[in-house]
Amino acid sequence: MSKIYITTAIPYVNGAPHIGHSLDYLLADVYYRYRTSLGDDVRFQAGTDEHGNKVFAKAKASGMDVHDYADINSQNFRDFISLLEVEPTDFIRTTDKDHERRCQEIWKKLEKHIYKSSYEGWYCEGCESFVTQKERDENNGVCPDHQKEYQKLSEENYYLRISDFKDKIIEAIKTNKLPILPDFRKKEILELLKDTPDVSISRPAKNLSWGIPVPGDDSQVMYVWIDALSNYITILGYPDNDILGYWPATAQFVGKDILRFHAIIWPAMLLGLGLPLPKMICSHGHILSNGQKMSKSLGNVVDPVDVINKHGIEAFRYYFLRHIDTFVDSDFTWEKFEDAYNNELANDLGNLVQRLATLANKNNISINRTVSASVYDENYKEFMDSFEFSKAFDHVWEKVKKINKNIDEKKPWEIAKTGSREELSICLNTLIEDLLSANNLLSPFLPSTAQKISEIFVAGHGIIPPRTPLFPKNL
Ligand code: MSP
Repeated sequence: MSKIYITTAIPYVNGAPHIGHSLDYLLADVYYRYRTSLGDDVRFQAGTDEHGNKVFAKAKASGMDVHDYADINSQNFRDFISLLEVEPTDFIRTTDKDHERRCQEIWKKLEKHIYKSSYEGWYCEGCESFVTQKERDENNGVCPDHQKEYQKLSEENYYLRISDFKDKIIEAIKTNKLPILPDFRKKEILELLKDTPDVSISRPAKNLSWGIPVPGDDSQVMYVWIDALSNYITILGYPDNDILGYWPATAQFVGKDILRFHAIIWPAMLLGLGLPLPKMICSHGHILSNGQKMSKSLGNVVDPVDVINKHGIEAFRYYFLRHIDTFVDSDFTWEKFEDAYNNELANDLGNLVQRLATLANKNNISINRTVSASVYDENYKEFMDSFEFSKAFDHVWEKVKKINKNIDEKKPWEIAKTGSREELSICLNTLIEDLLSANNLLSPFLPSTAQKISEIFVAGHGIIPPRTPLFPKNL
């Protein structure tokens, strides 16, 4: 039994969860369920990132006390995670007192790599990130991700000397001691690392009061990313506890927009603390609508709760885990989603279950084979172990389609008329055994559906077909 630690990015609590937030959780959840099913001891972290200008400004604009505002939105994320049927073992809020104290301890441990200097330059509040003059010029003064003008800042800040670690980080990435997926993103990071400057890691408290005070200097608060990245280890109890059982993380799931923080600042912090680097940083693409970023101004925002209310969580998980590529940007549109629902979930899988259950029931055939849980084939394991979840799911679907094809070819309804009972029992049992094997592979992706299927086809029993189809059509 291995100790496994899986992490997700902690979203800012500056609004309700949106459809894009689902991806970190779902990818991590599939991996969590997969590793748990193999018998590993898995911790799965999630949480909320609550400090910083962005959250503070939003709370103020809503006329709310920032603590109350953070409480409400943090709870919204917890509810959203449950709605997705995602089950983290640990949940952290960056306003937790233990987290705040531990962050200050971390800061103190990093002190020999920290210096004070003045900064004059550009900042994007949307990214909560400083940008170079070059980057600002390339983007004509407006952040492409947030469509907001960069702000000119002139302040005295503390800096983390990235230069102390840069060569080590580059070496670790190149030699896969710090693996990054996908490969094209790893190359982008190596390019970026060539001229990454030291990073500012604090803001004057007079400009930003909503943050963790820098130890020994009340005039400064920590830069929100230092506070946020630390969550991955403070949640395990660092530095109070020895965390080396679970740390280094087995896999850290983040979106492409925040890979640079996880692949540059975070490794620098870990090296400064003398902690090992994560075993994998897995960076997913973004969810788009007809090739475009979803935005309120374009009017193409899809509320995930609407999708789940209409077609159920299993359909939502299906679309996001199969049709949203694990690594590159992919589209969500209602049309594509409903096509996948009707043609694949309802036709390929729902009908298959109904057909086999009805045939066995009508002919009074009981199941005489058992399929042990979590028996996975090599191809599937290879995809899952390399975090190619949408490919693993395609592989499962090939199996589902193959069973449908076998039914059409073997025509059990004809055997029922012309063949022997034994022949029919062997034919149906073979098909059901194949379905149950595919169902094992399905279970990390669609846990409730897989559970229902295994409850329908229980060895030694007669079969009762479900009264309503697993995926009713024309909702
Ligand atoms: N608070 C930081 C993360 C700190 S982690 C130490 C943050 N928050 S966020 O709310 O902006 O984003 C949270 C996660 O959602 C990130 O992984 C981000 O990439 C992801 N996504 C945000 N929009 C997305 C899409 N449209 N599509 C897919 N993922 C998206 O960044």
